[in-house]
Amino acid sequence: MTALTIITPVSIRPMQPEDLEKVHAIEQRSFPTPWSLNSYRNELYGNTAANMWVAELETEAGKKQVIGMIVVWLIVDEAHVGTIAIDTPYRRQGVASKLLNTALLACSRKGALTASLEVRENNLAAQGLYQRFGFELVGRRVRYYRDNHEDALLMTLFELYPALLENINCAGTTQD
Ligand SMILES: CC(C)(COP(=O)(O)OP(=O)(O)OC[C@H]1O[C@@H](n2cnc3c(N)ncnc32)[C@H](O)[C@@H]1OP(=O)(O)O)[C@@H](O)C(=O)NCCC(=O)NCCS
Repeated sequence: MTALTIITPVSIRPMQPEDLEKVHAIEQRSFPTPWSLNSYRNELYGNTAANMWVAELETEAGKKQVIGMIVVWLIVDEAHVGTIAIDTPYRRQGVASKLLNTALLACSRKGALTASLEVRENNLAAQGLYQRFGFELVGRRVRYYRDNHEDALLMTLFELYPALLENINCAGTTQD
């Protein structure tokens, strides 16, 4: 893969209707059983529990490009990570960390005390990301995923509070 030059920091902002097609394209490139465009539409327009952000890169020419997204459902005092993905060329540059941090911090400020998620057993990249935030393995759903019957690992972040998230270093969004 060609090395990228990211000349401005990646910014995180709430997802807008005009982002949906870009977001869905990233979704399709990132998951074996992607959410449909309609699922994203329904979340954005119809689910008041859904908190949705995109990561956006500004190119040298001043063009803005959506390179990742996160959906987190806030249910009473629990933030549940529904999905997170970064477009392939922009991975391993701290973008998912920045998205997750923004989402968890916002949910924490709105009353979330814990966070939870499911992750494929073989998805070590995502597990590494979640462990970095303090998520712990709490359970397993055997043969949970329909496409390959892979197990889902259940992970929980038990103590979600703003100070913890403010201490996680998410500045790393530049690369030579
Ligand atoms: C998982 C995913 C969101 C991570 O995005 P990212 O922007 O590359 O993650 P970050 O750069 O913030 O990485 C944070 C940490 O996660 C871990 N990590 C990320 N990618 C990794 C990889 N390929 N291998 C091992 N660990 C990895 C590392 O601990 C990393 O910290 P480090 O770079 O300081 O070592 C990305 O790989 C992706 O979009 N995957 C496809 C979709 C997906 O699986 N989503 C998760 C569903 S549960």
